[in-house]
Amino acid sequence: MNPWSNPDALPSQDAANLAIFIAERGRNADQALAHTTLIDTLNPQSGERLIDVGCGTGVLARRMMQRVQPEGTVLGVDISRAMLDFAERQTLPTGLRYQQASAYSLPCSDGSFEGAIAARLLMHGVCDGQ
Ligand SMILES: C[S@@+](CC[C@H](N)C(=O)[O-])C[C@H]1O[C@@H](n2cnc3c(N)ncnc32)[C@H](O)[C@@H]1O
Repeated sequence: MNPWSNPDALPSQDAANLAIFIAERGRNADQALAHTTLIDTLNPQSGERLIDVGCGTGVLARRMMQRVQPEGTVLGVDISRAMLDFAERQTLPTGLRYQQASAYSLPCSDGSFEGAIAARLLMHGVCDGQ
């Protein structure tokens, strides 16, 4: 099984270690540059509503929030409670929130967002049994 397809199925310490891994990876200069490029490509504007699907520990969601604040919002969605627990322990600016859900059944209606990112989600062959 690909551990990224459902980290919560792992022993809790292994899931926590995955969270630490992606949080620390996000601090690497090359990763930070890749994230900047991704977000620049999305080109969010102040006040927009964005969604980060498969947000993990919120590395990108927090940076997306910087682009849309103070009026905008970012919803980080991830299938893993362990990832979201980690994300929620980080800086949580007004407008940024997290929700546990699958990318296959997002907890929002069509037209809820001006922009979306799903970084390193599909590359892991996320299948969610569907
Ligand atoms: C490699 S991590 C990437 C996290 C983050 N996007 C980043 O770039 O740091 C993949 C994430 O996708 C989540 N994930 C896997 N399957 C998912 C699904 N069906 N719906 C939502 N999230 C999913 C995992 O829990 C994990 O947090």
